[in-house]
Amino acid sequence: MSETTPKRYTPVHVVIHWLMALLVFMMLGVGKFAMPSVSPQDPQKVMLLQSHTYIGAAITILLIVRLILKFTTKSPAPADAGNAFLNFVGKAVHVLFYILLIGMAISGLGMYQLANLPAVFSGAQAYPPNFFDYLPRNGHGLLSWVLLVLVLLHVGAALYHQFIRKDNLIARMWFGKS
Ligand code: HEM
Repeated sequence: MSETTPKRYTPVHVVIHWLMALLVFMMLGVGKFAMPSVSPQDPQKVMLLQSHTYIGAAITILLIVRLILKFTTKSPAPADAGNAFLNFVGKAVHVLFYILLIGMAISGLGMYQLANLPAVFSGAQAYPPNFFDYLPRNGHGLLSWVLLVLVLLHVGAALYHQFIRKDNLIARMWFGKS
């Protein structure tokens, strides 16, 4: 490890990480449970989709900032999970997070365009009867399941480090002296 390798992430990384975690968690909850439970005739449906769209846009902007930081600032050394296979899984999960979130943003934007959501939000057009008429809806749904599995793996890994390896890895993603 070089002398300049930091022990923890910068405060900007920390804020972005926890903000994205909260927003992605909310989006998975709203997308999987809240939105399907409201009928398209209910005015709340448009409101839900509108917040889903704006939060999706916020996640995308945070993701772009995170990617810029990744290539312009130094990060701590990769975490050691104690064996080569787990270390590989850890790296793969992180790369997949970026790919999946980019896929969610692109497929969301595709639906936004194809279903003319600005007109739906302004009330000029009715809520689309079935988003599955638009191809990106299939990708959005499929990727969201993979994202959910990755979130569970990521949380599981954090708990493994905290309570089994007891290496307090989570402190690297919190504020403190570098
Ligand atoms: C990281 C960002 C995003 C996440 C995590 C996310 C998550 C989800 C989830 C979990 C679903 C339900 C999928 C299913 O169970 O099949 C969904 C549906 C949907 N999302 Fe997203 N989404 C994101 C971004 C966006 C964006 C930017 C838009 C832009 C408009 C969007 C528009 C939609 C639409 C139109 C639906 C379908 C609603 C319906 O079928 O009635 N999403 N999203």
